Amino acid sequence: MMNKKEEYMKILVINGPNLNLLGKREPEIYGTTTLLEIEKELTEYSETFPDVKLEFFQSNHEGEIVEKIQSAIEVFDGILINPAAYTHTSVAIADAIKAVNIPAVEIHLSNINEREDFRKKSFTAPACIGQISGFGKNSYLAALFCLVKHLESRK
Ligand code: DQA
Repeated sequence: MMNKKEEYMKILVINGPNLNLLGKREPEIYGTTTLLEIEKELTEYSETFPDVKLEFFQSNHEGEIVEKIQSAIEVFDGILINPAAYTHTSVAIADAIKAVNIPAVEIHLSNINEREDFRKKSFTAPACIGQISGFGKNSYLAALFCLVKHLESRK
């Protein structure tokens, strides 16, 4: 389903806490690419699909992420979200994704299933249509591909 007011498919890309430090933060786990570089690559990749527009949002604050998800109603057709540490704690973000009823894909750079036990539990994944984890920055590209194909199939 395309957004009613726009002809293009609008996708909101949300990154949670500490992802603003990508590039410097534990590079052996998260790589050396900065968030800005990932966003640029994602924008370039989005241009290979007809009529896809991305908007980016990063916050270290749970409530701000909840508010951004709420503001997506009737504006965005889909959401890509790396909730970072809130993946493993946030009922509020999971509820917000369910409340807006916008298809969302959960993203992780690292493979959360091969790390500490507490990372194996995702509160947010059940609110999403799917989860992509473990492919570094390519997790974002793969998630965009899957979300666009999902939205196209609903047109
Ligand atoms: C992460 C995985 C989380 O467990 C962690 O808290 C992050 C990043 C990832 O992208 O691999 O901040 O979401």
